[in-house]
Amino acid sequence: MIEFKNVTKMYDKHTPALENVSLKIEDGEFVFIIGESGAGKSTLIKLLLREERASKGDIVVDGKRLKWLGFFTLPRYRRKIGFVFQDFRLFENMTVYENVAFAMRAVGTSRKKIAKRVPLLLKIVDLETKADRFPAALSGGEQQRVALARALANNPKYIIADEPTGNIDGKHSGEIMDMLVKISKMHKTVIVVTHEQGLVERFGQRVIAISRGHVVADEYHLPEKQA
Ligand SMILES: Nc1ncnc2c1ncn2[C@@H]1O[C@H](COP(=O)(O)OP(=O)(O)OP(=O)(O)O)[C@@H](O)[C@H]1O
Ligand SMILES: [Mg+2]
Repeated sequence: MIEFKNVTKMYDKHTPALENVSLKIEDGEFVFIIGESGAGKSTLIKLLLREERASKGDIVVDGKRLKWLGFFTLPRYRRKIGFVFQDFRLFENMTVYENVAFAMRAVGTSRKKIAKRVPLLLKIVDLETKADRFPAALSGGEQQRVALARALANNPKYIIADEPTGNIDGKHSGEIMDMLVKISKMHKTVIVVTHEQGLVERFGQRVIAISRGHVVADEYHLPEKQA
């Protein structure tokens, strides 16, 4: 479980990027975070990754207070989280397969396990036939799916995506969302930051709205009826 308790983040003395934010996200939930540009969405994610520290308040994940994580405990904590960047950040000189395998090697996974798991991950994101391609020969949506497979590689409990559909068109962003929903059904907590109101309406999930550093709504949306 993720818990924000009265969290304030000041980057400077003047305006808080987040102010007195409290929220809970239970295990296995699928949550959208929405809000205008500058609202504080990425700040919330950075706090969760402990790339930034809260100025006030506490963030507690699975019973651990993030402010107390240190040299040994922080890397272990971060391994629980699979993060999908807006700009994919794939290695251009590595194939699809290698991009995913690399993430597993980096944490010391055995060759045998990697050989078994990478095809499985590529199947989840529907790219098993493109394992040997290089990123340059993939569409934006496909590249994003590789990034998703890589985020899943080490079986994290949490999947966090900051604007995962930012650089791709409507049809492909729908595909990514379908996959994220599928992943949340694998008992993972999925947090998706977006400013695409259309996606939120189509997928009907819990939506936390942030505006000017405050949580202004937190409600469950019903999915739109299929036309
Ligand atoms: N490193 C930083 N130093 C100073 N101010 C920052 C820093 N990062 C973000 N801010 C400020 O904090 C506020 C919230 O920024 P944040 O990146 O969280 O917004 P956002 O909701 O993700 O916006 P966007 O939709 O444009 O990505 C903004 O006013 C921004 O200028
Ligand atoms: Mg942002």
